Amino acid sequence: MPSLRVTVDGLDLPNPFVIGSGPPGTNANVINKAFDEGWGAVIAKTVSLDASKVTNVAPRYARMRAQNSKEVIGWQNIELISDRPFEVWEEEFKKIKDKHPDGCLIASVMEEYRKDAWVELIERCEAVGVDAFELNFSCPHGLPERKMGAAMGQDPDILGEVCGWVNEVATIPVWAKMTPNVTHIVDPARAALRAGCEGVAAINTILSVMGVNLETLRPEPTVEGYSVPGGYSCKAVRPIALRMVMELATMMYGGGSGKPVPDNDELPIKGEYLDRSLSAIGGVESGEDAAQFILMGAQTVQVCTGVMVHGYKLAGRMCDELEAFMTQHGFESIEDFRGHALRYFTTHASLVERQRDAKAAEKAAHAGMVTKDTAWEGDKFVEQSDKLVANKDKDDD
Ligand SMILES: Cc1cc2nc3c(=O)[nH]c(=O)nc-3n(C[C@H](O)[C@H](O)[C@H](O)COP(=O)(O)O)c2cc1C
Repeated sequence: MPSLRVTVDGLDLPNPFVIGSGPPGTNANVINKAFDEGWGAVIAKTVSLDASKVTNVAPRYARMRAQNSKEVIGWQNIELISDRPFEVWEEEFKKIKDKHPDGCLIASVMEEYRKDAWVELIERCEAVGVDAFELNFSCPHGLPERKMGAAMGQDPDILGEVCGWVNEVATIPVWAKMTPNVTHIVDPARAALRAGCEGVAAINTILSVMGVNLETLRPEPTVEGYSVPGGYSCKAVRPIALRMVMELATMMYGGGSGKPVPDNDELPIKGEYLDRSLSAIGGVESGEDAAQFILMGAQTVQVCTGVMVHGYKLAGRMCDELEAFMTQHGFESIEDFRGHALRYFTTHASLVERQRDAKAAEKAAHAGMVTKDTAWEGDKFVEQSDKLVANKDKDDD
């Protein structure tokens, strides 16, 4: 029977499935529900010290459905971080830990570019017993106007400085959550890891405009006739998330978990941060989706929109599916296959070369030429030797 248990940055989780920061972790009631349903960990909705500066609007979501089924494949939100007072969160964090002392509760935090604010936020969250932090450097809408969220995450220097402030005071693991709205996601990630963060998480939502209403001629979601670009999530973002997680894992682990990478030594794949963790996010709704992110190097896999579409029971189904995948391949633990797929990425030039070699080998085999020692056959030995002679036509004259 395979084991789904993961130990990441000293946190012992029953499975790699983590509630991603957002509506599914927005108060004690729903967080307790997530633990009851067996989620490996919960990251609460992002909190800041002064919730009075946070004002949400409605509607704030827009969905993209597949054309032929009614399946939800894309989700845009213009939701801000938590609008609930920090003092209420302190009480609730305490109560959740009392009720679920073994549950891994991660506080997602965000503040303005002021050291005293970040230090206060970290110290007060730690005092009420949360198990780890995720620093939200990635919210793409609303908060960048206050130089928060993605505005910080897009500037590796500022991000590194803030991570430094946090790591000076935090005594529990710290993950930095990356925005995908950058050209090279490894640059801010490197800054976070250099500043002492135990891990990185990626991706947050992708800046998007969901669509334009062809009757009203206005963009959606429309609030009093107007809109703003929002954050895109759900199934549709998974390929982009996989690519970004691949880039992060390649930078951190080289060829996957620091294991040797046969067949691929032309790539600069030395891992820079083998001892740090990677939490993958983006469009996960099944055990198979999660397996792909783990094959790409992630220890944990977060789900946000998937819970909004399918509910909290998703954890149980995903555990069954991941276990079935592991049984099929004979993997006993998550570490058995983590990062395995990284070794199969190469350069385009190498793809061309591999294809040329494969075609040449196929041609040679077709002509009956032995290209591998295993192909020699006792009954055809003389014929096979003959076919390997250079300039055979001339030689035969
Ligand atoms: C409605 C909504 C609200 C979100 N709020 C937060 C938030 O407060 N903090 C945060 O770090 N990420 C937030 N996210 C981003 C998610 O945690 C996640 O990074 C993103 O949606 C991609 O994963 P998914 O496809 O599983 O949703 C939010 C996402 C959605 C859909």
